[in-house]
Amino acid sequence: MHSDADPTDAHHIDASTVDASTVDAHPADAQPVGAQPIDVRTIAVRTIGVGVEAAGQPDDGLRFDDTGKVALDHIYTQPDPQAYFNTLRTLGYHIPQLAKPFFSRLIDECRAQRRLPPTVLDIGCSYGINAALLRCDLTMDDLFERYGGQPSASRDALLDRDRDLVRAHRRPSGARFVGLDTSEPAISYALAAGFLDEAVCADLEQRDPTEAERARLDGADLVISTGCIGYVSERTLARVARAAGDRRPWMAHFVLRMFPFAPFTETLDELGYETVHVDGVFPQRRFASAQEQEQVLDTLASVGVDPRGLETEGWLYAQLHVSRPRSAPGRGANRPVFGQQPAGTLTGRRA
Ligand SMILES: C[S@@+](CC[C@H](N)C(=O)[O-])C[C@H]1O[C@@H](n2cnc3c(N)ncnc32)[C@H](O)[C@@H]1O
Repeated sequence: MHSDADPTDAHHIDASTVDASTVDAHPADAQPVGAQPIDVRTIAVRTIGVGVEAAGQPDDGLRFDDTGKVALDHIYTQPDPQAYFNTLRTLGYHIPQLAKPFFSRLIDECRAQRRLPPTVLDIGCSYGINAALLRCDLTMDDLFERYGGQPSASRDALLDRDRDLVRAHRRPSGARFVGLDTSEPAISYALAAGFLDEAVCADLEQRDPTEAERARLDGADLVISTGCIGYVSERTLARVARAAGDRRPWMAHFVLRMFPFAPFTETLDELGYETVHVDGVFPQRRFASAQEQEQVLDTLASVGVDPRGLETEGWLYAQLHVSRPRSAPGRGANRPVFGQQPAGTLTGRRA
């Protein structure tokens, strides 16, 4: 098992003082510990039908969404996670790995405050990826290995192995995990494996939760997401926040810089939240092709984000936004985002 990324490690995030546009976070350094150099072409061949090529490769067969990003919906809806991990491995996707120590810390804070195991709601949970990392002490490299075997394994065989893993990591003090996603196959895999305790399969961009869905959402103490904002807007976040009535859950979202967080901050502000933008940037994945990079650079320009030294170098970058109810005990404008963090290593800017 590899060690987790340390959030104070300047290779992963330059935390306190450096402006996001000047931070020197080289993605090659920011690979999860133990990541091997990837032969993109070899793996692209192994994932035939998935349709992703590395930056600089021809764009043949790639589809793009309205934001300019490559469309990967087909890997979100397979019966098991093999296509998901095989494809995202070629792109060096590792934002859940970089997010893990931050989420762990917030879970610990929630547990200390509530004196009970907290419930974590993961928006865009897919195959239960954040839950698997957090509850089974795994890394993204572990997951790439786990689901990257050739020839591919059957869904049943993968599930048997995952259930054993979850059983071995069951702790009475462990957090509960609830997932929200539009992909029924991904959610049902995550539930069957035991990565998730409960789930809601719904598109809350389009409608309010039903009573049954609200009941599953309303126990959340902490709402997290990686790689999902952009697919979901502030509409989903507001519906999730309201599902708990007056008891607002904390939130922590890793969001690509191409998606302005201001509309989220405004909506959350109206719901009684204070949002802090954690300093530093987090390399999410490589561009799938030169065309994707060009399109995302256009999107960044249209929202006034300077890509120099970051997205211009071939990687997409995310930022971490943490929102907590203004009424929560100990909250305050100058309070560090991560209470246990040594002073000065991880601060944020209040929105
Ligand atoms: C890039 S994946 C991220 C998955 C996982 N969080 C991770 O970081 O590996 C985006 C996920 O968002 C989900 N998604 C797309 N639209 C959604 C919506 N309206 N509500 C909830 N989830 C959505 C997709 O099905 C997919 O599982």
